[in-house]
Amino acid sequence: MAAKAKQMMQMTLSPFLSFSVASSVSALPVIHPSKSRALLMSACRSISTSTDTNKKKKKKSKESKIWHSKSKGLAKEKRRTRSLRDCDIETEEKEVDDSSCAHIPVMLGEVLDVFSPNSKPLCSFVDCTLGAAGHASAIIQAHPQLKVFIGMDVDPLAIQLARSRIHALSQSPHFQAFTFLKNYRHIKSLLSQVDRPDILSSGVDGILMDLGMSSMQVNNPNRGFAVLANGPLDMRMDPQASLKAEDILNSWPDSEVGRILRDYGEESNWRFLQNKIVLARLQGGLHSTGELVDVIRSASPVSRGGRQGWVKTATRVFQALRIAVNDELRTLEDSLYACFDCLAPGGRLAVISFHSLEDRIVKQTFLKLVDCNKKGGDVSVEESEIRDLKRIKSEDSGKELWIRQTIQGSNGIILTKRPITPSEKEEGLNRRSRSAKLRVIQKV
Ligand SMILES: C[S@@+](CC[C@H](N)C(=O)[O-])C[C@H]1O[C@@H](n2cnc3c(N)ncnc32)[C@H](O)[C@@H]1O
Repeated sequence: MAAKAKQMMQMTLSPFLSFSVASSVSALPVIHPSKSRALLMSACRSISTSTDTNKKKKKKSKESKIWHSKSKGLAKEKRRTRSLRDCDIETEEKEVDDSSCAHIPVMLGEVLDVFSPNSKPLCSFVDCTLGAAGHASAIIQAHPQLKVFIGMDVDPLAIQLARSRIHALSQSPHFQAFTFLKNYRHIKSLLSQVDRPDILSSGVDGILMDLGMSSMQVNNPNRGFAVLANGPLDMRMDPQASLKAEDILNSWPDSEVGRILRDYGEESNWRFLQNKIVLARLQGGLHSTGELVDVIRSASPVSRGGRQGWVKTATRVFQALRIAVNDELRTLEDSLYACFDCLAPGGRLAVISFHSLEDRIVKQTFLKLVDCNKKGGDVSVEESEIRDLKRIKSEDSGKELWIRQTIQGSNGIILTKRPITPSEKEEGLNRRSRSAKLRVIQKV
């Protein structure tokens, strides 16, 4: 009987399973055949169930992996709104006549949409970061009714180039353009210098801040901004400023050098790099971008991505130094408050940022501005985010199709709940645009 049961088991089980089950059953001493059959069935069930369960588990985990990676991608997608605008980069390139210093304005079409005559007719406009005046020229040309244009930049070369471009634009006799070699943190005092008393009292209709460096600056090795071109360790946007990257690297306290790398470069290997930089001081210090890059390269293990790895590290270190040299983050935050103060009711401030530290400041300051409009107000961003004074409107806002979701506060509206990023086409055509984020706020 036992042999029959064994035979039955072998018949029932798949050839693959027969060996183990058969041998384990044959090891059972005295079992009634009906019991052995029941045992067999239960073994079969449990084996097939556990195989099924494993298969299901594998399938589930595979599906969950796919879902997670999809949802991660979706979440990433959702945190920003990619522009669907078709960018005409050839036209933008033509705008810049001197190809040796060509700067292609980033998200030009999107900026024109923000200040389109469909919103509030522009009578006065401020460009805080003139650069090569790519945005400025396009805005002036798109708004024939514009009466006052005010532009500023800390870089004398940019101002020179921008001035000649702006003044070459034929405008109505009522149009006045003022350009200043000044830091945008002084926007309020500059507006008071403009010979238009109405500007300071009633405010301006539009303000643009296109942060970061121009191509003229990056492409000039003498400015010290480029990782892959040797030059002095300068990195000043304003050549009149006293602090250079060289001063930080060679004479700031060790811990400050580390702090900069950690906080402004978000560099995980900051302590090791700090030690390497301090060590270099003992051998005469660092005086060129090439020397700094050598230190970074020697401190970056080949296992961490080879050339890609050290170039990325160098990019983070250069960003950190540039932010510190130009006090960029504090200047940005202070200036956002100042700019908002200078807006007329209904006026808009648009900011294009190029890295997460800048974007975070813009995002958080906008939230504070629509809420209380007072620096150091006691409402934290998190609190204010939950507070129901914000109404989130998901529907398209009437005629302006670029506006998707807004955040309404008592002092203004954030017109970009999520930042707008360049279209895929623009990203493909202009590498510099890839990290750009556009955020817009409107005063009530
Ligand atoms: C990205 S470029 C602007 C390009 C410009 N929108 C165009 O279309 O040609 C940024 C400019 O901002 C200037 N800049 C940076 N920080 C500044 C500051 N704090 N005050 C004024 N200008 C600043 C730089 O010198 C640079 O020329």
